[in-house]
Amino acid sequence: MPQAGGHRAVFLVGFMGAGKTSVGRSLGRLLRWDFEDLDDRIQARAGRSVAEIFRDLGETEFRRMENAALHELLSELETGSRVVALGGGAFAQAENVALLAKAGAPVIFLDGPAEELFRRCQQEQRERPLLRDATGFRKLYEQRRPSYLKAARRVDTTGKNVDQIAAEVACSMGLE
Ligand code: S3P
Repeated sequence: MPQAGGHRAVFLVGFMGAGKTSVGRSLGRLLRWDFEDLDDRIQARAGRSVAEIFRDLGETEFRRMENAALHELLSELETGSRVVALGGGAFAQAENVALLAKAGAPVIFLDGPAEELFRRCQQEQRERPLLRDATGFRKLYEQRRPSYLKAARRVDTTGKNVDQIAAEVACSMGLE
């Protein structure tokens, strides 16, 4: 989205394990744009980790904080071009979808089959409050997929490495 002053932004969405953070970092390097993970902003504001927020305050409060963090971030977009990774549930919340649409922000859905996403999550050390067994993972994935498909563009991540996906995202946006 070309912004006043030439500043731009792109938002990466998708399920857990889609590679939003690692692809976002790679894309930021490629475009020489800043990278931000919305979960990091939430954690900084709360002074605790996402896992602690879920445990101590519950998911409803986490979603409220997530929406507030997105509001705040969108109000700062004129300060520079940036790549933003949203947490896996952010784009499944109607108010966040509406907020991004209102801002005219380009949203890219990083897609992939549930089995591959589950495998990737298991290989990571990060504690994910909503990562349970394979059956629960698939159920949530199927529940959310229609929301992710509301993104303007979809990039299939199956069998691709992070830099390949980042290059594809840049290309799909006409940024390379
Ligand atoms: C969540 C995904 C996490 C994090 C939080 C909730 C979700 O982000 O925002 O644990 O609802 O799917 P990642 O997608 O980066 O794991």
